[in-house]
Amino acid sequence: MKKKPLVLGLMAVALFYFAGAYYLYRKLLFPNLAPRDVLTYIWVVITGFLLFLAFTLYYLFTFRQQLREEKDRQRKSCTKLQQANEGALKALIHALDYRDHDTWDHSTRVAAYATVLAEHMGLPQSELNKIALAGYLHDIGKIGVPDRILLKPTKLLPEEWETIKRHPELGYDIIQQLEFLNTAAEIILLHHERYDGSGYPLGLKGHKIPLLARIFAVADALDAMTSERPYRAARPMTEAFAEIRRLSGVQFCPQCVKALEELGVEKLSEIQQSVKKQGMVKLRLEDLVPCSDYL
Ligand SMILES: [Fe+2]
Repeated sequence: MKKKPLVLGLMAVALFYFAGAYYLYRKLLFPNLAPRDVLTYIWVVITGFLLFLAFTLYYLFTFRQQLREEKDRQRKSCTKLQQANEGALKALIHALDYRDHDTWDHSTRVAAYATVLAEHMGLPQSELNKIALAGYLHDIGKIGVPDRILLKPTKLLPEEWETIKRHPELGYDIIQQLEFLNTAAEIILLHHERYDGSGYPLGLKGHKIPLLARIFAVADALDAMTSERPYRAARPMTEAFAEIRRLSGVQFCPQCVKALEELGVEKLSEIQQSVKKQGMVKLRLEDLVPCSDYL
């Protein structure tokens, strides 16, 4: 910030007021001082004030100009950062899609279910963004699961399940590397925790599992049940609802199950169909991680 004009202005004012004080001093000591000298002082004070006003206005104008330029610079660098981050997000999404297309379709539906569920439960936009982001990336850790297990057409053996069960931690490790995705990392790590404490990887119980992860678990399970798997057919939405209701308080948080019931089968089926029609979702990072988060 340029301080020179203000300093000069203040110096000019100080100079004029010193001059005035000198005149008054002389008038006290020499009462016969001509009225013309007093008028000179008044003239000097007015000129000084006008000069000060001019300097202040100039200073304010320059300050506003600099503020505007600074904001422009910030906006431009934020856009560049946003583009770089969006590129990184798309690279991850494409990697997951190329690795296993079914997982990507599942992620898109889970993102939609979880966001609607969280919105219905009255969560603010910032939390909805976190859960949507986690929806798209929650199974990113499956990139680290060998094909022979991930794409196995028959039922998995217990040791193969153990390998699959590592994907929340692998996903957490991947997402932790990117600061702008950190908000979704916790949900990714905890999306297979169960309300009764029998989940993985940490075995957290009840409300020790963060609300977003509890909501997420319901959305994830709903889609898992209503999607076709190599070893079983997709179940109808009504059947999946009944199963989730049965597991309320066991696998799922009762508060989240209640919210799901309130939304209803019809609404969730609509979302399922619209995701199917949309295909590969066009993601805009700006919608999930607003520019203001970086500043
Ligand atoms: Fe998962």
